Amino acid sequence: MTDALSQAWTQLQTEGDRLRATHLRQFFAEDAERAQRLALEAEGLYLDFSKEKLDATALQALVALAEAASVEEKREQLFSGAEINVTEGRAVQHMALRAPPGTEIRIGGSDVMPAVLETRRRFLAFAEQVRDGSYAASERQPFTDVINIGIGGSDLGPVMAVRALAPDADGPRLHFVSNVDGAHLTDVLRPLDPARTLIIIASKTFTTQETMRNAVSARDWLRAALGAGADRHMAAVSTNLEGTADFGIAQERVFGFWDWVGGRYSLWSAIGLPLAIAIGAKNFEAFLAGGSAMDRHFRSAPLAANLPVLLALIGIWRRNILGYPAVALIPYDQRLERFPAYIQQLDMESNGKSRTLDGRPVTRATGPLIFGEPGTNAQHSFFQLVHQGSDVIPVDFIAAVEPREQLADHHRLLLANCLAQSQALAFGRSEAEVRAEMQAAGKDPAEIDRLAPHRVFPGDRPSTTLLQERLDPFALGRLVALFEHKVFVQGVIWDVNSYDQWGVELGKVLAKALIPVLEGSAEGAGLDGSTAALAARIRAG
Ligand code: F6P
Repeated sequence: MTDALSQAWTQLQTEGDRLRATHLRQFFAEDAERAQRLALEAEGLYLDFSKEKLDATALQALVALAEAASVEEKREQLFSGAEINVTEGRAVQHMALRAPPGTEIRIGGSDVMPAVLETRRRFLAFAEQVRDGSYAASERQPFTDVINIGIGGSDLGPVMAVRALAPDADGPRLHFVSNVDGAHLTDVLRPLDPARTLIIIASKTFTTQETMRNAVSARDWLRAALGAGADRHMAAVSTNLEGTADFGIAQERVFGFWDWVGGRYSLWSAIGLPLAIAIGAKNFEAFLAGGSAMDRHFRSAPLAANLPVLLALIGIWRRNILGYPAVALIPYDQRLERFPAYIQQLDMESNGKSRTLDGRPVTRATGPLIFGEPGTNAQHSFFQLVHQGSDVIPVDFIAAVEPREQLADHHRLLLANCLAQSQALAFGRSEAEVRAEMQAAGKDPAEIDRLAPHRVFPGDRPSTTLLQERLDPFALGRLVALFEHKVFVQGVIWDVNSYDQWGVELGKVLAKALIPVLEGSAEGAGLDGSTAALAARIRAG
């Protein structure tokens, strides 16, 4: 670590020691301008972080940390196609997938944009053909249903985005199968007619156990009904063109991408085909444009006025200075119901690391646990703990000012709840206030003594609120890219490789070895006692 970097961390600790005990009530009482000082409006987004336990001086120290960690230089390396995924020897260039025609983006000396644009043209054309029926089902009728089979980055992005953009969806119905649990495929297939169903097999590697198992069963389902006609009902998205050919998918319905696109960053590629089929090429291009606008902002805005950088620094403050282990991500937007799950993979698979880039153990906490549900539902499940539990869990709220439907009074109620939650978290309700309220309500003193402690809200629980105008394709693209770049900045500061995922490998290998044990064709010699006993119990039925 450079001297400048260690000094920046020391300074940040000093700021933390100065502010840790200050209640959010006091922050607001002491600074009438706080809400303006600790907010940023940029790119059509309004980020209010005045309910975080920091002040302008702490913010400066955070920006100094980003500078000392060379965020600007590393950002240039990212955009210039350097091999920053060092453990896999790859560049990271998902930004090329959303770049407009006319851009030149080089990886290893050659411009990748001609291939990107050609693949984009092909998969968007295919999406339009499926939508308008010019690519029709075997009985010359348009496809009514499309199933995407994939998992992780080959599922979470498309399913999240298709739900988020439901008002824009006017194509065939979209379904998603990810879990290898046969229940998932069975339940999705049951109401569908194979003669009117198109199946997209989405897998970067085309080797993922779960996806390949589901793909084979889905192909059997098509073949049982359609015989040789089944082939027409299958398309694939993958970097493994040999694998797709071996599976029997005609080349013209295979859409590729590249090893410099991580699975969890691939929604912008042909992995977005289900979204394009749902909302059409024009809307998909607006989604790409939103992501691209955020790229330009991230690359050019000064650190202190840079949305992804600020989000990242707020996260660093929460995690490394105040020591909070988790974050609740709560969209007050039903259509973002899968957004927390999507961000879980993006963030936790990227920054859930405990080795630095050069392989040493990290010396600071890295990626937090992220969980979430849409508001207001979350209020009626785990918010009890968030308000009064023994751990402080900072919250990221996301809301749109304008609804996409006519029920304006619903939307006001939704937004009132969003603001109320951040208010309650920050300011709470003191025992004196609780007692005064109960007295005013005519409660007897014994009951007040008994119940008042339970009704106290400690407050001082931080949250950030992100407002956008409305959730449309452009806004969704911008939002996803915002979180991608936030994850990048945190990865730089923690000095981890945000683009590998070795932590998911061991389980895959062990599962493979256990299949024969569960089938009864292998003994499982050398298994630990617990696993052997569980396997024996399962085999016994
Ligand atoms: O879970 C690990 C992982 O490799 C993810 O990173 C990826 O998104 C997912 O599996 C699916 O991989 P593939 O697209 O190759 O099937």
